[in-house]
Amino acid sequence: MTTAASPNTPAAGPGQMESQAPNDQFEDTKIRIQGLSVGYSDGTESLQDISLDIPANQITVLFGPSGGGKSTLLRTINRLNDLADVVSLEGRVLIDGVDVLDPKLDVIELRRRVGMVFARPVVLPMSIRQNLTYGLELSGEKDPGQFEEAVERSLKASALWEEVYDRLDDPAVSLSGGQQQRLCLARVLALEPDVILLDEPTSGLDPISTGKVESSLQKLKQEYTIVLVPHSVQQAARVADYAAFFLNGQLVEFGMGKELFVHPQDSRTEDYIEGRFG
Ligand SMILES: Nc1ncnc2c1ncn2[C@@H]1O[C@H](COP(=O)(O)OP(=O)(O)OP(=O)(O)O)[C@@H](O)[C@H]1O
Ligand SMILES: [Mg+2]
Repeated sequence: MTTAASPNTPAAGPGQMESQAPNDQFEDTKIRIQGLSVGYSDGTESLQDISLDIPANQITVLFGPSGGGKSTLLRTINRLNDLADVVSLEGRVLIDGVDVLDPKLDVIELRRRVGMVFARPVVLPMSIRQNLTYGLELSGEKDPGQFEEAVERSLKASALWEEVYDRLDDPAVSLSGGQQQRLCLARVLALEPDVILLDEPTSGLDPISTGKVESSLQKLKQEYTIVLVPHSVQQAARVADYAAFFLNGQLVEFGMGKELFVHPQDSRTEDYIEGRFG
C-alpha cells in the first residue's frame, strides 16, 4: 500500500491520521474505515483489512477491476450486507465517530442518513412525485408543503426538474432509463441524507445524462459526502477529489484524485489507469 499523498497509513493511530492530512481541504473525516475484512460464504475474502478515511464534503471514488470489493465496501457502509451472504466481518466503520456495524444500531435511521443509488435504477411503481415523497411519508412527514419542497429541491439537485416539472403525476416507469437513474438519485436526496453512496450511477446513461449527473454531484458535495464507484477510469479521473484503488479485496493506493491519476505511486495502479489490465 502506498500512501504518499494520503492520511491512510495502515499503522497510524487515529491521532496520527489527522496530523498527516495531505492539505487544508482534508478538513474532517466523515467515514473512518478501520481494519475492515469481509468474507462471503463461498470462501471469498472480498475485503482484506481495509483502512480508509473518507473526507466530508468531497467526492471519493472507489475504482479498480471487477471483483475488487468496491460494491462490497459500499454495501457494508450502508449495512446492506446484512441481507447478503456475508459470513465474516471484522473491523469498524465509523460515521461521525459512530460504529455503523454495531448490531444495536438503528439500520433504518442509518439508511436515511446514508443513501445509496445502484447501477440499475429501480423506480417504485408509482408516480414521479410519489417516488420522491414515499420515503418522507414513511419517516412520518405529513406536511404537504414539505413534500412540495422536497420534490422540487431533489429534482433540481439531480438535474431532472426541467424534464419532468410538468408531468410529476405521470408514472415513474414512463421515464427514460437515464431519467429513472436521476429519479433514484432524487429519491435519496429527498430524504436529506449526509452521505450518498453511488454504485456506478451512470453505467447505463448516455454522455449527456452522465454529464448532468456529474455536474450535479459537483454541487451536491457542498452539502453531502459522496462516495462513488465510477463506471470507467475516465469518469474516476473527472470526478474524484480523492480516489482509492482496489484490487482483489485490497486497497492498493489512496490519494488526492488529481495527484493519483497523474502520478500513481503503485505500479499496479499505474497499469490499471493506463489500461494495461482490468
Ligand atoms: N453475495 C455474494 N456472495 C458471494 N460472493 C460475493 C457476493 N457479492 C460479492 N461477492 C464476491 O466478492 C468479491 C467482490 O465483489 P464486489 O461485488 O464487491 O466487487 P466490485 O469491485 O464491486 O466488482 P464490479 O466492478 O464487477 O462491480 C467478488 O469476488 C465477488 O464474487
Ligand atoms: Mg460492483
